[in-house]
Amino acid sequence: MTATAPTPTPDIAAEPRALLELAGIDPARLRALLADAASVLRDPAPTDALAGRTVANLFFEDSTRTRLSFTLAARAEGAEAIDLTSAGSSVSKGESVADTARTVEAMGVAALVVRHRSAGAAHVVARAVRCAVLNAGDGRHEHPTQGLLDALTIAEAHGRLDSFDFSGLRIAIVGDIASSRVARSDVAALRALGASVVCVGPPALAPDELACLGCEVSQDLDAQLADADAIQMLRIQFERHDAGSGGASPVGSIHEYREGYALSPERAARMKPSAIVMHPGPINRDVELSAAVADGPRSRILRQVTLGVAVRRAVLRASVHAAEGGAR
Ligand code: CP
Repeated sequence: MTATAPTPTPDIAAEPRALLELAGIDPARLRALLADAASVLRDPAPTDALAGRTVANLFFEDSTRTRLSFTLAARAEGAEAIDLTSAGSSVSKGESVADTARTVEAMGVAALVVRHRSAGAAHVVARAVRCAVLNAGDGRHEHPTQGLLDALTIAEAHGRLDSFDFSGLRIAIVGDIASSRVARSDVAALRALGASVVCVGPPALAPDELACLGCEVSQDLDAQLADADAIQMLRIQFERHDAGSGGASPVGSIHEYREGYALSPERAARMKPSAIVMHPGPINRDVELSAAVADGPRSRILRQVTLGVAVRRAVLRASVHAAEGGAR
């Protein structure tokens, strides 16, 4: 496989071989990726679009959904998928992320899928290599394929798969927004598609400064229930707070948090009949989301997981072909 990748540009996030973030993405590129994912939904049969290629998952942080989803997506497009995790690799001996990425690329892989606890890690990898690079979640920064699959889930539920025009839709994202790379990718994607977005949580988790992302900010979940067409619930990421606060809780108590911000059956009953409930996972059942709502008729949580494979098939195809100079 000969790859004549373009020289990296200063705006590496705009290179079509890399999907690093959705903030600032060209809406035409966003819609093209979503339209391709929708075409996979209509015809999910395996293809040989990436036959002969290898996709490497470089996961330096835990994952269930994203890693398996990229693996299944690569295989569905005819590629082989291999895994590297920090435990058991030379990362544990002090090798840098960039050197690890160059090393794996030198073995002939077509795409690197990168998850890391540090914001910007996928950018570092993209600058170090010439193959396709997909950000599978970097710290609190972004999780772009999650943002795409969330947009696809909303488009499917609200009949927007043909246009991906979200005008008139209002989406609430509830919970630990401050720690959430998913929220950042969701706000970017949903705003670019024309939705209005409100981020909801207590001040420590949803500070007013989040308005700079282009969303509204509210501390009153009950005031948002009747207007939302979709509610994306987020877990409290205690592990990220522990890293920065010496273990101090960002919320008074779980009981108080539930009282103010958990989506209970009583709250779900006040939503529009057509409104859906989403969660990127992993769920802390009966903390941010009651089990009855997670498993109830409004829930699209497992559908999000299913659509994630279609999104990652589309993203892998586009980025690998771009890295190869558009050759098919
Ligand atoms: N939504 C998500 O990123 O889940 P995983 O951490 O299981 O990949």
